[in-house]
Amino acid sequence: MATIRDVAKKAGVSVATVSRALNDKGYIHEDTRKLVEKAIQELNYKPNEVARSLYKKKSRLIGLLLPDIRNPFFPELARGVEDEMQEHGLRLIIGNADEKPKKEIDYIDTFKQNNVIGIISATNQTETSHYENLDFPVVFLDRTANEHPSVYADGLAGGKIAAQEMIKRGSKRITLLRGPIELRTAQDRFKGAINEICNYNVNFNVMTTASFTFDDAEKIAKELFEKFPETDGVIASNDLGAAAILHEALRRGISVPDELQIIGYDDIPLSSLLYPALSTIRQPAYDMGREAAKLLIQIIDDEKLEHKNIQLPVTFIERQTTRKVEENG
Ligand code: RIB
Repeated sequence: MATIRDVAKKAGVSVATVSRALNDKGYIHEDTRKLVEKAIQELNYKPNEVARSLYKKKSRLIGLLLPDIRNPFFPELARGVEDEMQEHGLRLIIGNADEKPKKEIDYIDTFKQNNVIGIISATNQTETSHYENLDFPVVFLDRTANEHPSVYADGLAGGKIAAQEMIKRGSKRITLLRGPIELRTAQDRFKGAINEICNYNVNFNVMTTASFTFDDAEKIAKELFEKFPETDGVIASNDLGAAAILHEALRRGISVPDELQIIGYDDIPLSSLLYPALSTIRQPAYDMGREAAKLLIQIIDDEKLEHKNIQLPVTFIERQTTRKVEENG
């Protein structure tokens, strides 16, 4: 009957390393873990507590991948995920992928090394292979593709509502900010808005932002008033972009909402604190996070899924960067 010492000798590691691997305690490099697993198989070693085997012992950890932790939308998602996980005795390891595939892959490896039992990913790399052949389930959140278990908000409806509310309030020369073309969330809301605008006799321009970051929001704000000074309504692709437009308009002495109306997208907590407070399309980020956590837990527990793809509704939040409807008669 092989002992832990035999396994250590065969794997060329210390008994303590084998013990760490078996009990999933402390750090062990993936390559070393593989050596230990190979020695265990070759010696047919059975740890004293069979239930704690290297293969079956799982942690209570969930990996959460976010694309940009500086964007206030994502902490709202994360809070919903964490609250749901806490109620099930699970804990999060959060990774900030920075919209970079290499960093995302590094975090997936980190999650594997920490023996997570599932991943929730809010990044945009849902098509790439590093989400295949994992030995734990993955749920995609916000930026997603329907062939995977996923939770997202209704972007097409969001864009349509923004256009309707803007036109209802009298804007005739609208600039539509299109978010990064590689993001499905940005494209859905853009399509929803432009399809609606085309039903009305209004002029419109389109400007595309390279990313959803603060820096690009500031850049586009300056460009917009240079290129389209006659604009009387801006439909932004997210609240950071809308906030930058508002800041630049006020800096130029443009009256909001009398001369220029602005509608954002997300309804991050900051938006209600702006002056004037931002009218926007609210994505239920907290609830999206909770729903994604519930879906992942159902898959981990092997429960029958009612729905693999969950779409949550969005709503128009009227504040002070849009005129009251009756003001336009
Ligand atoms: O503001 C960040 C944006 O990226 C949000 O609108 C969210 O939908 C994400 O895709």
